Amino acid sequence: MCGIVGYVGHRDSQPILLSGLSRLEYRGYDSAGIAVIDADGALGMRKRAGKLAVLRDDLTAVPMPSGTTGIGHTRWATHGGPTDANAHPHLADNDDLALIHNGIIENYAEIKAALVAEGYTFRSETDTEVAAVLLGREFRAHDGDLVAAFRAVVSRLEGAFTLLAMHKDTPGLVVGARRNSPLVIGLGDGENFLASDVAAFVEHTRNALAIGQDEIVAITAEGVTVTDFTGAPVEVEPFEVMWDASAADKGGWSSFMAKEVSEEPDAVANTVRGRIRDGIVAIPELDGLDELFAGINRIIIIACGTAAYAGMVGKYAIEQWARVPADVELAHEFRYRDPVIGPDTLVVSISQSGETMDTLMAVKYARERGAKTLSICNTQGATIPRESDAIVYTHAGPEVAVASTKAFVAQVTAQYLLALHIAHIRGTLSDTEIAQQVLELEEVPEKISRILSDEQAHIEQFAKWMADTRSVLFLGRHVGYPIALEGALKLKEISYIHAEGFAAGELKHGPIALIEPGQPVFVLVPSPSHSPLLHSKVISNIQEIRARGARIIAVAEEGDAAVLPYADEVLRIPFAGPLFEPILAVVPLHIFAMGLSTAKGLDVDQPRNLAKSVTVE
Ligand code: F6R
Repeated sequence: MCGIVGYVGHRDSQPILLSGLSRLEYRGYDSAGIAVIDADGALGMRKRAGKLAVLRDDLTAVPMPSGTTGIGHTRWATHGGPTDANAHPHLADNDDLALIHNGIIENYAEIKAALVAEGYTFRSETDTEVAAVLLGREFRAHDGDLVAAFRAVVSRLEGAFTLLAMHKDTPGLVVGARRNSPLVIGLGDGENFLASDVAAFVEHTRNALAIGQDEIVAITAEGVTVTDFTGAPVEVEPFEVMWDASAADKGGWSSFMAKEVSEEPDAVANTVRGRIRDGIVAIPELDGLDELFAGINRIIIIACGTAAYAGMVGKYAIEQWARVPADVELAHEFRYRDPVIGPDTLVVSISQSGETMDTLMAVKYARERGAKTLSICNTQGATIPRESDAIVYTHAGPEVAVASTKAFVAQVTAQYLLALHIAHIRGTLSDTEIAQQVLELEEVPEKISRILSDEQAHIEQFAKWMADTRSVLFLGRHVGYPIALEGALKLKEISYIHAEGFAAGELKHGPIALIEPGQPVFVLVPSPSHSPLLHSKVISNIQEIRARGARIIAVAEEGDAAVLPYADEVLRIPFAGPLFEPILAVVPLHIFAMGLSTAKGLDVDQPRNLAKSVTVE
């Protein structure tokens, strides 16, 4: 939450900052602002409530002098509403210093009181301005040494923060510090960048450095210096960004979400690519890490939101193939309940951004308790993988729309690879059995492509007809249950319609009371050929709610005629093995949510109140 970008180099920083912010806007879009040290050494600043476009228009109407040192921010409001005053940058030290922040400074009230007692004044309701004013004070106390001032400031702060600042008296220098919030360095030629995410600078350079926890970084046009909070130099880890700027562009698509749904086949294919050797799974990142899986007797998957639903699907595969008991927990619940974990527990975290604070804290907690940790993540250089014993990257490419789609199918895919990898190590499946599952997995991208080509237009038309709907229910059994939850989350998230997902078997234990004539209910129908019993149970559930007037929208396998007499609408998916159905069945639900949101004229990519990367608890 909140996107941060900093630049020092030989070019005009304004367009670089604005373009970087446009790629970070998914992190928050309540307000935006930039500050620049211009050619005369003056510090200019402009910030506006609203989306980045408001700031852009403002800068077009009244331009600001250009300069080669600058910082920019896009905000998701925490402390103080989305107003001009609360927008970042915040100025201090006679407006000669500008500071931006991502995170929450938990002890800001106490520091503010101390500063007020010293005579300092404040112009906003934010926790951030406290850091700005404190930094201004320390800048003076440390004879204009911005890095030393940063060290003094971070030693006073509690909570999570990435801070970037620059001072008029030290042109050509941007200093940053991070604790539990993201910050990466981009290395250019005669120019350097700092940002919450590589997306902000990938159009200029793919050479990046990941900064660790509790570190301070100073960039100039010529170099980068990283120290810890005591001032000791630290080694930084270089990496090359694996995708280019066009991957994070909307291209000709109407929305990022539309583009990302269209990329679901690639997300699966790219996540599998390079991880199959001689027909069986071999994940290069896990080479030499067999001991991670050998002594464990339990797997706990921790994640939030859509990633947690992906985890719920993964649990079925891990238990069925690797025969290790697996549980899924919401990361924010996990560490507050004194879980029984230790060296025999593998905690698998799933996170698209790799920055979700709840998940990060749960991973740290698991490590402190002696558990082994493995991160499934889509973002290079992110914090959660760096805090884990092992990483399996999903290769979905950058996901910009706030609602997660292609990352979900990639997360399920990565867990399937992991389950087969563990099954191989533990000998719970033969090589032939693993090879069969691999073949199924390799067929998934083509099957998703078929749903997109054969069903998308139909589903979008159908979503249009349903634009006035006030409430939608989703039912599923077995691996269809997490898909029902995901379908409901996606719909409520981007179309603001009440939606609930239920395990179909749970219906009679309460939720059936919600059924009244006309109530739309999506039902995930499992393949009759895999489990006639499960299929017939779901058909019975359909009959029960249909008898009470529900309008049934079945997501069913091609050729399943048994649903026809009971369904008002059937969305078809290709035939697939039982554990592969959910990766297909989710696609029509993603299309439906997108279609309905579009039909209501809403902003599909940037739904209200949300931000993509939830870096506060
Ligand atoms: C829903 C959605 C969220 C995220 C959740 C975790 O569409 O995108 O529920 O899945 O906030 O985010 P990551 O995967 O970045 O940890």
